[in-house]
Amino acid sequence: MMFKKPAGVLMFLLVVLKGTAEAACSCTASACRCHSLGLTSVPQDLPTNITRLYLGWNQITTISRSDFSRYRSLEILGLNDNRISTINSQAFYHLSNLTQLWLVRNRLTTLRSDIFVGLENLVLLILWSNPISDIQAGTFNPTPKLQHLNLQALDLQINMFKTIPTLHYWLPELTTLYLSTNQITDIPRDAFSKQPKLNLLRLSSNQISTLPFGAYDMLSAISTVSIYNNPWQCDCRMVDFRLKMTGSHSFENQITCYQPNSLNGQRLIDINPDDLMTDCQKPNITRFERIGKYPLFQGETLRLVCEASGIPAPEITIILPSGQNATVGSSGRVTVLANGTVTVRNVTDDDYGRYVCMATNSVGSTFAVFSVDVNYSFPKVTLYLIAVVVCTLVIVAIAAYCM
Ligand SMILES: *[C@@H]1O[C@H](CO)[C@@H](O)[C@H](O)[C@H]1NC(C)=O
Ligand SMILES: *[C@@H]1O[C@H](CO)[C@@H](O)[C@H](O)[C@H]1NC(C)=O
Ligand SMILES: *[C@@H]1O[C@H](CO)[C@@H](O)[C@H](O)[C@H]1NC(C)=O
Ligand SMILES: *[C@@H]1O[C@H](CO)[C@@H](O)[C@H](O)[C@H]1NC(C)=O
Ligand SMILES: *[C@@H]1O[C@H](CO)[C@@H](O)[C@H](O)[C@H]1NC(C)=O
Ligand SMILES: *[C@@H]1O[C@H](CO)[C@@H](O)[C@H](O)[C@H]1NC(C)=O
Repeated sequence: MMFKKPAGVLMFLLVVLKGTAEAACSCTASACRCHSLGLTSVPQDLPTNITRLYLGWNQITTISRSDFSRYRSLEILGLNDNRISTINSQAFYHLSNLTQLWLVRNRLTTLRSDIFVGLENLVLLILWSNPISDIQAGTFNPTPKLQHLNLQALDLQINMFKTIPTLHYWLPELTTLYLSTNQITDIPRDAFSKQPKLNLLRLSSNQISTLPFGAYDMLSAISTVSIYNNPWQCDCRMVDFRLKMTGSHSFENQITCYQPNSLNGQRLIDINPDDLMTDCQKPNITRFERIGKYPLFQGETLRLVCEASGIPAPEITIILPSGQNATVGSSGRVTVLANGTVTVRNVTDDDYGRYVCMATNSVGSTFAVFSVDVNYSFPKVTLYLIAVVVCTLVIVAIAAYCM
């Protein structure tokens, strides 16, 4: 019987399933649990005075400003384990009583500056395991009461933080900050100066290789720090840090040298500071010359290469014939790559002359000079003019001879 009317049965099942999904949020006087219901949007038929709403393990992709506008008493909101990639402008605008927001394991890539607007009482924000790579300026300005911020990445994630994302935020109440498993390369001197109450910091499994002068005092002021599993370079840059080490903080035991090879596997605290010094070398410019085609005409591209050795790897600055400087990261007509390749586009007369390559690291500095010769460099226009003049003279001469 049932198999004879498959369409009707299907309809019946769909109605039943739909009905179940809506009914299945289980609510008490103050909380609704809507876990694992296959929801693709925020249910709008729940009691509006609830203070806790758990929407984890569903299939929500977008959060918009109207989604929570009727649930203004919310204090805890669980949105973990969904597929949220978009949080629209001011999506939590009406949730001024919200203290906890869980967004674990979603698909956020960018935190736009207006998404947390209205969350003036937010204490805990858990964002771990989202492929976030960009936090726009001002994102945490609306959340001055934030105490716990978790931005831990997922291993193998493509987008990860390369710098400390809270660097510029004044978060006076922040006590815990999780940044493990990202791609952070250094800890700036003032990294946590705007979070005076920080007492738990996780920076393990990043790409930090060296600690700046002053980092010791900065980390000592935080009661629990984890920095293990970073590729520490135990060379002269770490001497200041090493000299301050006393063994009285647990993070001191977490710094195991990765390079140089001679110290690989040793703990920094066990190394004699003198041995760190011998591992540095002044910069030495091993090659500074022109590459690419000769002759070079105006408007074309000039390429030079300046290669330098040294430990730590030297930074290259090129002083141009005009007196201006170009360095790695300079933009515009002249660029310098980390491997020493210098590119000057749209060459003009001002680009012929003396180029100075300066190589600088923490131990010292050196320079080399290369002259780009003007002799090769008749502009095309000049050659064209010469050709026209010569031809004209020849024609005039022939004309004169014939007459
Ligand atoms: C919400 O309202 C319902 C009925 O109006 C009431 O029974 C319940 O106690 C209220 N809950 C809270 C947290 O005020
Ligand atoms: C927010 O919390 C305050 C203090 O607990 C309370 O008086 C107020 O009614 C709450 N607001 C809403 C919209 O529930
Ligand atoms: C610098 O490099 C040049 C060329 O490779 C080499 O001949 C010279 O010995 C090096 N100087 C030092 C101080 O290492
Ligand atoms: C260019 O770089 C050199 C060496 O780093 C520096 O001494 C000089 O002040 C710089 N000049 C300008 C204009 O930035
Ligand atoms: C070089 O000149 C061309 C045309 O003359 C212009 O389109 C281009 O933007 C210039 N490039 C740079 C890097 O200035
Ligand atoms: C420098 O790097 C650029 C881009 O990564 C590459 O195209 C170029 O061949 C490199 N030059 C040298 C000398 O290694």
